[in-house]
Amino acid sequence: MSIGIIGLGYVGLPLAVAFAEVGEDVVGLDSDQGKVTSLNESRSYIEDVPSETLAGLSGRIRATTDYADMADCEAVIVCVPTPLTGSREPDLSYLRSSAEELAKVLSPGQLVVLESTTYPGTTRDLLAGTLAAGGRVAGDDFHLAFSPERIDPGRTDYTVRTTPKLVGGMTPACTARAQELYERICDRVIPLSGPEAAELSKLLENIFRSVNIALVNELAQLCDRLGVDVWEVIDAASSKPFGFMRFEPGPGMGGHCLPVDPFYLAFTAREHDFYPEFIELAGKINQSQPLFCVQRIERVLNDDGRPVNGTKILILGVSYKGGVGDVRESPALKIIRLLSELGAELSYHDPHVPELTDTGLSNSELPEAMAAADLTVIVTSHPEFDIPEIVAGSKLLLDLRGVTRGLDDAEHVTRL
Ligand SMILES: NC(=O)c1ccc[n+]([C@@H]2O[C@H](COP(=O)([O-])OP(=O)(O)OC[C@H]3O[C@@H](n4cnc5c(N)ncnc54)[C@H](O)[C@@H]3O)[C@@H](O)[C@H]2O)c1
Repeated sequence: MSIGIIGLGYVGLPLAVAFAEVGEDVVGLDSDQGKVTSLNESRSYIEDVPSETLAGLSGRIRATTDYADMADCEAVIVCVPTPLTGSREPDLSYLRSSAEELAKVLSPGQLVVLESTTYPGTTRDLLAGTLAAGGRVAGDDFHLAFSPERIDPGRTDYTVRTTPKLVGGMTPACTARAQELYERICDRVIPLSGPEAAELSKLLENIFRSVNIALVNELAQLCDRLGVDVWEVIDAASSKPFGFMRFEPGPGMGGHCLPVDPFYLAFTAREHDFYPEFIELAGKINQSQPLFCVQRIERVLNDDGRPVNGTKILILGVSYKGGVGDVRESPALKIIRLLSELGAELSYHDPHVPELTDTGLSNSELPEAMAAADLTVIVTSHPEFDIPEIVAGSKLLLDLRGVTRGLDDAEHVTRL
C-alpha cells in the first residue's frame, strides 16, 4: 500500500522523496494544480529537491488533487500551511479544510499523522474531532499521531534520515504505528506520551531560537550605543566550551517558522489565562530589528553627507536566509519597504530570487549593480557571494551579517 502526503511544499515534497527513496509508493496531494502537474512531469519547484532526483524515482511519486486517492493509502501525512491571520492569530483554515476533505474518504485502520507546526491540542481537538465524522473514534477505528517536521531548508549536514523524529499518538497503539512508519526513513524515532508533548516540543525548539536571536539582536543595538564590536563579544563568549550557545545578530527573523510559531503558543496560552511575556518580547524585538537596520543605513549615509531620499541603495540577499530562495517574512522586505517610503532608489541582487513581485523589483546582476549603487547593504549572505569581491566592488558597504569580518577593514565598510 502507498503512503499519502497532503501538502507538497517545503516539508511535504522532501518527505515524499524520502519515502520513495526507500521503495515506498507515494501519492502526493496538493490543492495547487500547477505543483501537481510539475511533479507528474518530474519538475521540482523546491530548491532542496533537484528535478533529477524526482526523475530518478521511477514514478514512485504520483501527484493528485483528488482526496479520493487518499482512501487506499496505509498512512496519510498532513503537511499543509499553518500561517497567521492578518491580526497575528493562528490560521488553521488550511488544516481544517484538509481534515474535512480527508474525513470524507478515511478508510478503517488508516494511520493519519499531522506534521504541520501548531499549538498543543490541535491534533486531539481539531483533527481527531473532524476525522471522527460518522462516529469514528481515533485509536479504535483509525490511528492518529502528531510528528513535528524539523526540516531546515538549505541544510545538508542533517537530513530526514539523520534528524531524530518525534512521534506522539492519541493512544500507545497510534504511537507505535507512527514509529514503525517513520523508522522506514529515519534512523532514530523517539516516542512521546501523546500529541500534545510532540506539538509543544516543536514550538519549544523554534521559540528557543527566537528568544536567543532576540537576545543577540538587542545586544547588537546596545553595542551600537556603547561603541563596542558585538561580533568580537560573541566570538569571545563562544570560546567558553560549556554553558553558552552561539547565536548571531542580523536584520531580523524571517521564514515560515520562527516569526510565526511563537504566536501559536502565545495564542493557546492566552486561552488558558496565561500571558507568556518572554515569548512576546522576543517577537517584538525581532520584529523591530529591521527598523534598527534602517536607522543604521540612515546613519551610514548621513556620515557620507547624503540623505536616503534619492540615494541609490543595493540590497544584497533578499531571502530570509542564506542558500534558499524563500522570501516569506523576510526582513529584507521590511527594509526595502521602509527605505522606499524614505525615497531611496532601490535595487537588489539575489541569485535565488529572480523577482520580488510585491516591490516591482527584479534581480540585478553584479558587479554592475554595485558600481551603480551609492550604498550596498548585505542583508542576507548567500554561499555563492564572493565577499572580498563585494568589499572591493562597492562604494559604501553596510554588512548586517558580519560576513566581512576577518577581511582587511576598509574605510568604506561598516558592520552591524
Ligand atoms: N518550511 C519549513 O522549513 C518548515 C519546517 C518545519 C515545519 N514546517 C511546517 O510545515 C507546514 C508546511 O510548511 P511548508 O513550508 O511545507 O508550506 P508550503 O506552503 O511550502 O507547502 C504547503 C502546501 O500545502 C498545499 N495546501 C494548502 N492547503 C491545502 C489543502 N487543503 N489540501 C491540500 N494541499 C494544500 C499548498 O498548495 C502547498 O503546496 C507548516 O505548518 C510549517 O509551519 C515548515
